Amino acid sequence: MRFHLLVVCLVQFVFYTHANNQDFVHLTRGFYHEPNGLQPSCQSQIYCESEFLHDVQLSKIYPDSKTFVDKKLKYTESEILQKYKALKNTYNGNVPPNDELTKFVDQNLEDGDELEEWNPPDFTESPSISNRIRDKNFKQWSLGLNKVWKTLARKVKDDVKEHPDKYSLIWVPNGFAIPGGRFRELYYWDTYWIVNGMLLCDMTSTARGVIDNILYLVKLFGFMPNGARVYYLNRSQPPMVTLMVASYYKATNDFDYVKKVIPILDSEFEFWSENRMVTFQKNGKSYTMARFYAPSRGPRPESYREDYETAEHFKTEDERNDFYVKIKSGAETGWDFSSRWFITSNGSDRGVLSDIHTPEIIPVDLNSILHINALTLSTWYSKMGNTNKAEKYYAIAMSLLNSIQEVMWRPDLGAWFDWDIKNNKSREYFYISNIVPLWTESYNMPKKSVASSVLGYLRDQHIIEPDYSVNFNGTPTSLYASSQQWDFPNAWPPLQAFIIQGLDKTQQKLAQQVAQKLAEVWLRSNYKGFAEKSMMFEKYDVLASGETGGGGEYTPQTGFGWTNGVVFEFLNRWGDTVSNGSNGCNSSYRYLCDFNRIRQQREESGMIFFSKRQCVPKIINFLYSQKQCNEK
Ligand SMILES: *[C@@H]1O[C@H](CO)[C@@H](O)[C@H](O)[C@H]1NC(C)=O
Ligand SMILES: *[C@@H]1O[C@H](CO)[C@@H](O)[C@H](O)[C@H]1NC(C)=O
Ligand SMILES: *[C@@H]1O[C@H](CO)[C@@H](O)[C@H](O)[C@H]1NC(C)=O
Ligand SMILES: *[C@@H]1O[C@H](CO)[C@@H](O)[C@H](O)[C@H]1NC(C)=O
Ligand SMILES: *[C@@H]1O[C@H](CO)[C@@H](O)[C@H](O)[C@H]1NC(C)=O
Repeated sequence: MRFHLLVVCLVQFVFYTHANNQDFVHLTRGFYHEPNGLQPSCQSQIYCESEFLHDVQLSKIYPDSKTFVDKKLKYTESEILQKYKALKNTYNGNVPPNDELTKFVDQNLEDGDELEEWNPPDFTESPSISNRIRDKNFKQWSLGLNKVWKTLARKVKDDVKEHPDKYSLIWVPNGFAIPGGRFRELYYWDTYWIVNGMLLCDMTSTARGVIDNILYLVKLFGFMPNGARVYYLNRSQPPMVTLMVASYYKATNDFDYVKKVIPILDSEFEFWSENRMVTFQKNGKSYTMARFYAPSRGPRPESYREDYETAEHFKTEDERNDFYVKIKSGAETGWDFSSRWFITSNGSDRGVLSDIHTPEIIPVDLNSILHINALTLSTWYSKMGNTNKAEKYYAIAMSLLNSIQEVMWRPDLGAWFDWDIKNNKSREYFYISNIVPLWTESYNMPKKSVASSVLGYLRDQHIIEPDYSVNFNGTPTSLYASSQQWDFPNAWPPLQAFIIQGLDKTQQKLAQQVAQKLAEVWLRSNYKGFAEKSMMFEKYDVLASGETGGGGEYTPQTGFGWTNGVVFEFLNRWGDTVSNGSNGCNSSYRYLCDFNRIRQQREESGMIFFSKRQCVPKIINFLYSQKQCNEK
């Protein structure tokens, strides 16, 4: 952390000194005139690649880089760019001072205001799920959360359809729910849990409209972008739309809908097959599996300054361009960012953002999701009597299943691991993605042995204790406190769904009991945050029930689409048994801050550790909560 800050300070220092002389101008010009065979992130110069974008983002007039690229153009793009050139000429080609730049931006761009509030027509104040929740507090909470759909519901204004060149937002036909906070557009993988939450709240036609929005974009672009903004056009996110249709089909039994949309699902699968597969060798055998890979030019427009500054670590233009592809590929994973995508020179994950190597990691979760997608498509084509396609997808599913088993499963460790094609090895670190094959059922071993192997793995990693009690307020993303937001101590709703529902699906008693306990602590933490702060967070801190997680590139966001969706899923499954109680009595501070253990295990891979300074307040907290527990 301290190292990282130091680097950022150095970069800023370099930037400021350069800004005062000709070198810097030279550097900025060189940057985007250097062709490297890739396309820019999108065709719009203002939103994706131009001197204007570059100057505004590096000037820091907006603390969050996303603010600028979400603005609406008041004039045509070429008019604005021409005026900017003229302005710059009056400063001898130098970047205008910040007050001039701000004035220019305000004269030529304005707040997008491209969404209107929307009343989902099938919204109901009392969805049937609430009647199935036993605990009074949780029942009340579910009614409150149901109301949140209304505050997140939006529709894109007609003006965006009529003047697409003036907006970075991409028009979609139906109303939808935004995730919340700074995320004011339709996102890809978030939407899976939003759709599930809507279906559980009896908003069937709204859920279908949301799925249709995604399908509309897949039809338009050949794949679903990360989100509905032009600057997201050169990357996707974990491919969940087939599973959204599966959720809708499960809720409605409407196979006509499946028949209608299956050609679009087919084309999305084709996109991943053609653009994201890589062939590599393990033990002399060849495998073809998927990875996240988003090749396009330049920094992410919505995080331009952050990427540009990190890229300053690299000496050559080629290395910088390579970094931009890797960071965009990291954003495509949905885990932006995580030590999971770092490969240091000695092959470990203990790195910083400039160690990112996403395309060289074959991810467990992506391949598992593609496996279940292929199997689902095969089943549906078979039901439709399309034997050709049914057989094609069955073969793909079996090939992926076999690769997941042979490349990723480690019987000695009891879980599946990402494969590093740079160093030809398993990445033996704890990430929740290591158990996603339970959720997609991407294994052909007996359920009983898989369940007991995975429980053993979770015990070894101290996620659960030998007596199967749970150690944290939710399962942390990893056990490495890297200061990235997809790492310890953050816990994310979709990952809780993967581990909890995955254990539950094994139908083994012990695994199901652990699943229920994990679901209960998660619900209690989410409930506590809601009861005390009236907020649902996008992520939580496993060390503090009810508190948001932190780290990463932006301030913590509230709302929050997928969080609420996952709460409804857990309440739907366990609402008749779980209840609000206290968390934290068996919290793991003692484990984390046991100095003897820290000293012994500092070298061991996969272990987290805190400094003494960080531990003192945590131990005080822990002792205090123990005291409260003992008094109860
Ligand atoms: C980026 O997206 C555009 C569509 O906006 C497409 O034409 C282009 O081929 C894409 N480039 C890459 C490298 O994916
Ligand atoms: C790799 O290097 C880091 C320091 O850069 C060190 O903490 C870690 O233990 C090393 N890992 C291996 C597997 O050698
Ligand atoms: C990984 O395996 C490939 C093919 O088997 C080989 O060419 C390459 O040198 C290996 N890399 C390392 C770092 O061992
Ligand atoms: C349920 O949650 C509320 C709000 O956090 C809390 O005040 C109350 O004590 C909890 N109930 C139990 C039984 O712990
Ligand atoms: C804490 O865990 C122990 C066993 O790990 C259990 O016996 C005890 O009841 C737990 N305490 C509370 C308050 O949940």
